[in-house]
Amino acid sequence: MADPSALYRLLYVSENRIAGDVAHVAREIEAILNASRRNNDALGITGALIFNCGFFAQVLEGPRDAVERIFAVIRNDTRHSKIQVMSAAEVEDREFPNWTMAYIGRSPSWEKALGWIRNDTHFAPDERCDRLFKIVMEMAYDSELSPDRTFAAPGKS
Ligand SMILES: Cc1cc2nc3c(=O)[nH]c(=O)nc-3n(C[C@H](O)[C@H](O)[C@H](O)COP(=O)(O)O)c2cc1C
Repeated sequence: MADPSALYRLLYVSENRIAGDVAHVAREIEAILNASRRNNDALGITGALIFNCGFFAQVLEGPRDAVERIFAVIRNDTRHSKIQVMSAAEVEDREFPNWTMAYIGRSPSWEKALGWIRNDTHFAPDERCDRLFKIVMEMAYDSELSPDRTFAAPGKS
């Protein structure tokens, strides 16, 4: 049986359903991030959220039961749809130990990098997943170096 306290990482992509003008979208993203930081810290969850108007991609890592609990809430959120789990597995270490939820907003490189998820059926699911995870990681690390593009809140230290 799966160990509910084992360190677990889940990566999914979804389609944005937040409509309206830029200010409204920004307020909704802010609300998501506020909820994430409040709840994730209490649950021992860290991760990263990427948003590019059309898509979300999110990494959640923490104790398996906590990740599954918060993901059950997230997947019922009507601000996104077509949730597609790219990977979900026990892991040895956290990749985002310092962020309750790193946020990476719209950027040209992200738009370009994500194009293949939509358009390229050539890659096997595992390969797509590895590539996506790599992109999320790279963007999270990049954003640490250029904080003007992002809003990365520290987690527990
Ligand atoms: C793309 C997306 C990612 C989200 N990620 C998180 C998250 O990591 N943690 C979280 O608590 N809520 C997240 N939410 C918000 C939840 O769906 C829900 O609104 C929130 O947990 C409610 O928090 P509250 O009960 O404290 O008001 C996310 C929502 C969306 C649309």
